[in-house]
Amino acid sequence: MFTQSHLLRGLRRYFLCTLAGPRLRRILAMLTRTETREDACRSSPQSYAAILRIYAHALEKSVHSPRFDPNRGKDRANSLERLLSNTSLTAHIDGETLGWAQEMLAAYRARVACPTELTTAARASPRPNLNASAIYEFIRQRRSVRHFEEQELRVHDLSHAIEFMRCAPTSCHRQAVKAFLSVTPETARRAHALCVGRSGFGDFIPAFVSIAADLNAYSFPDEAFLPFVDAGICAAFFLLGCHANNLAATLMAWSVSDEDRDRKLHELLSIPAYYAVAVNCVVGVPKSVAPPNPRKPLDHWFSVV
Ligand SMILES: Cc1cc2nc3c(=O)[nH]c(=O)nc-3n(C[C@H](O)[C@H](O)[C@H](O)COP(=O)(O)O)c2cc1C
Repeated sequence: MFTQSHLLRGLRRYFLCTLAGPRLRRILAMLTRTETREDACRSSPQSYAAILRIYAHALEKSVHSPRFDPNRGKDRANSLERLLSNTSLTAHIDGETLGWAQEMLAAYRARVACPTELTTAARASPRPNLNASAIYEFIRQRRSVRHFEEQELRVHDLSHAIEFMRCAPTSCHRQAVKAFLSVTPETARRAHALCVGRSGFGDFIPAFVSIAADLNAYSFPDEAFLPFVDAGICAAFFLLGCHANNLAATLMAWSVSDEDRDRKLHELLSIPAYYAVAVNCVVGVPKSVAPPNPRKPLDHWFSVV
């Protein structure tokens, strides 16, 4: 039956199709896509790499399972094998993705041959002996800082924080998130000036980082929000990486509706059009750091059924 919500959805779609800019149209196209994953993967090397990672990720879960079911993952393994045998596609993707996909396929086949034996890929490495209270206290002390010492940063100063970001979980182990950054204060200042929430900052902006997701890696309706979820989690890891390296950072929201600002930021930081900026971050050596600010009570943060 045709309901009010159908009408609203139709109007929304009409609005997006006619008035929205290219990025929103791309997300809309993702929401209404009907082709198969294997068809979609031919649209770009990044899409192909994402499909390999999605299939390899499914096999990894089977390989790591203590209750291995040889029938689970069979179709994925066959699809992955077919995709890996297509040399015209494999020629264009990164070695890490290719190597990991081949490794997971081999580990899955080994587990099928001997289902009771956990493969080397499934053996956990020992956990470092760290104190949970100290880690919690370290995280609690992190603050958003908006005033920085007039001290320029080098890319090298940020690279360990990016290593933190690299450890973030991403959906299906896609790793389609990238930090586009500038440590040139003038460029950082211009990028910061494009952000809506720029009040409260000092005049000197040492570095600016845009955390963006490659939309080629997300093709289907059920994945429409994942680029922003993945990039958001990466941003959180990056923030903690800055904190661990005695740098201070403040996340800055990015508007999805202002196409002109979005185009300017893409140009300024040489961000390819197919990357959607999820959030930005200003980084520098802090002038001072305030004490931890209060949080809502613990019981506000969860609900138990
Ligand atoms: C997604 C996101 C967007 C944010 N955008 C801005 C922003 O545009 N401008 C700003 O000054 N702070 C921004 N912040 C920082 C928040 O204001 C800050 O995290 C919050 O007040 C808590 O303070 P704390 O980070 O010091 O604990 C943002 C934070 C997040 C998570």
